[in-house]
Formats: sequence, C-alpha cells, structure tokens
Amino acid sequence: MRPLRDLRVSLTDRCNFRCRYCMPKEVFGADFAFLPHHKLLTFEEITRLTGLFQELGVRKVRLTGGEPLLRKNVDDLVRMLNDIGVDDIALTTNGSALNSDLAKRLKTAGLRRITISLDSLRDEVFMAMNDVHFPVSKVLAAIEAAKEADLNPVKINMVVKKGWNESSILEMADYFRGSGCILRLIEFMDVGSTNGWRLADVVTAEEMVSLIQTHWPIHKLPPNYAGEVALRYEYEDGQGEIGVIASVTQAFCGACTRARLSPEGKLYTCLFGANGLDLRALLRSGASDDDIRLAIHNAWLNRDDRYSELRSSLTFSRTKVEMSHIGG
Ligand code: GTP
Ligand code: 5AD
Ligand code: SF4
Ligand code: SF4
Repeated sequence: MRPLRDLRVSLTDRCNFRCRYCMPKEVFGADFAFLPHHKLLTFEEITRLTGLFQELGVRKVRLTGGEPLLRKNVDDLVRMLNDIGVDDIALTTNGSALNSDLAKRLKTAGLRRITISLDSLRDEVFMAMNDVHFPVSKVLAAIEAAKEADLNPVKINMVVKKGWNESSILEMADYFRGSGCILRLIEFMDVGSTNGWRLADVVTAEEMVSLIQTHWPIHKLPPNYAGEVALRYEYEDGQGEIGVIASVTQAFCGACTRARLSPEGKLYTCLFGANGLDLRALLRSGASDDDIRLAIHNAWLNRDDRYSELRSSLTFSRTKVEMSHIGG
C-alpha cells in the first residue's frame, strides 16, 4: 500500500477567475449551482478530520479550492491546524485576495508555504486565460506580499496551454530567475470533463526544459521528498530553481501519497476520482473518531488509482471530478 502522507483540502468550489483550462465560462456561468454554505465543511470539521488523517500518516496539508482565500478568515483555520501539530501547512491561490496584511496573518497563524498561480507576464495573454480581465500587476503584488511575509520560497504555478501562453515561458523564467521564487511549468491536464482537453494542446515538459536550456543551462536536482510532483532543476549560473510538472507525459502515480478532501467533505483518493467517500455524512451523523478513521483507512487501503498512467484509454470514457472542486 502506498503511504498516505499529503492531504489536500479544497475550501470552496467557487473562484473569481474563469481560467479557460479549469472553469470555462460556458460551463461555470451566472447560473452555475455552486455549493450552498451549509454544505461546506466547517473549519472545526476540517480540523477534526485532519487530526484523523494525521493519525493515519498525513504530515502535509495543502489548502486549495476553487480559490481558498474566498473563504473568510482562512488564517483561523491555519491556526487550528497548526494547533493540532500539522507542521507543513501550505496554500495554493490565484493571489487575487492576497495583500500584505493577509499574508502576514497567514504566516503568523502558521502557514509555511504558498503557491501562487500566474500564466503570463503579459496582460493580454493572462487576461485571455483567466477570462475575467484580471491584471498581471495585482498577482505580482501578491507575490511580493508573500515574499515580504517570509512565506519563502514562494512557488509560481504556470499552466502551459499550446497556442495560448507558451510564448510567455522565457519571459516568466527570466523574471523569476534569481528572485527567490520557484517557477513551475505545468503540462495542461485533462482534469474534469469541461476544459476541452486535447493531447494536441499539451506542451510537454521535455519541450519546456529544452527551451529553458537553450537560454540558461540547467541541471536536474534530486526530489525534496519521495513522490514529489514537480521535477526540479537548478540554473547553472546560480540563479535558483525552476520546476516542471509532467503529469501527462511522465505520470507519477506509483509514488502518489495524496488524498483529497472536497469542500463538502468527500474523500477522493485521486485527482481524477469519479466518486468520493462522504465523510461529512459520517461527521454529521455522530460517528465516532474510530468509525471515521476506519472508513478513511479502508478507502485508502482499497485504492488502486493510477489514472495518469492509464490516461490514454480512460480519458474520454470516465466521469471525473472538476479541478475547481477538488483543487490541483
Ligand atoms: P509541494 O511539492 O508541496 O510544493 O506541492 P505541489 O507541487 O504538490 O503543489 P501544487 O498545488 O502547487 O501542485 C502543482 C500542480 O501539480 C497542481 O496544480 C496539479 O496541476 C499538479 N498535481 C498536484 N498533485 C497531483 C496529483 O496527485 N496528480 C496529478 N496528476 N497532478 C497533480
Ligand atoms: N491542468 C494543469 N493544471 C491545472 N490547474 C488548474 N487546472 C489545470 C489543468 N487543467 C492548476 C492551476 C493551479 C493549480 C491548483 O492547478 O493553475 O496552479
Ligand atoms: Fe480559479 Fe485556480 Fe481554477 Fe483558475 S485554475 S479558475 S484561479 S481555481
Ligand atoms: Fe495520484 Fe491520481 Fe495523480 Fe496518479 S493521477 S498521481 S494516482 S492523484
């Protein structure tokens, strides 16, 4: 059995962006039914579940979404998780709500690391991708706020979609080289079933690495931990690190130690899961810690997920949970 080490908790299915590769407007329009507030797990419920996941081996918790910072007082949740002894607490955000004050509050509450998404330094490209006219400058300000609050090293996630933003790769690399931030170039994935994914739209990690190599020599670094998602590279001129996430062309299921909790409390044992185990029903029906721990343990024990490795035969035939629902 693969060990259970990471828990990714999605705090909300809502987002103020409509990234073309994640929540296309045609599907997530004005009449889309997001979860009502009472269906979301409360911070107390998330903390109780996280405690049980810890007993089963979880050491790292990442808060995601949708956009996690659309939930109010996320720093309170961070503090609650810190208080139960989670020492690696991270958050992935689009940066739109992150200012200096919030960054400092999150840091003080116990947030260790932050990842901010940014797909281009050019407004016309970034706005076409986020599809809500959100400007680059505000995300750059959020990145600075995170750096100032010492949430270092700040990671920057850039999803690369062919024909949209591969022309921004070198500018992004140049901007973040030597800045202390770690840029990660992500292959466009077929998560969910609404983003119109085609293999032809994927710029492969190999292509991205070669492109970087032609400008700045880089060499591979060993992973920080077994099963790390990103492949790490270091600039040979001492300007820091860059990563690629090759989930389409070099699947990493064999080492996958990640469980995912959806905003309404379903446990998914894979990013490409179809059905989640309803932990909220257990929580709200008065189940004991032992009952819930056992249910989680059994779900993990019976897990045989390796979607990315099987992708080609499954992609078009399977119902999958949306990325905006379950987090990256
Ligand atoms: P750290 O290594 O702790 O920094 O985090 P991370 O790289 O796992 O976190 P992040 O949320 O930034 O993940 C980066 C991207 O990798 C996600 O947005 C997804 O696109 C992808 N990813 C993360 N986990 C998985 C996974 O289990 N399976 C697949 N196929 N892709 C994943
Ligand atoms: N393929 C790859 N990455 C994606 N993300 C969202 N949708 C996709 C997709 N289809 C990324 C976001 C964010 C992270 C949580 O997941 O850019 O950085
Ligand atoms: Fe929102 Fe992130 Fe999805 Fe973009 S990728 S729509 S910012 S959840
Ligand atoms: Fe893990 Fe599923 Fe991603 Fe494979 S596809 S790495 S099993 S989450």
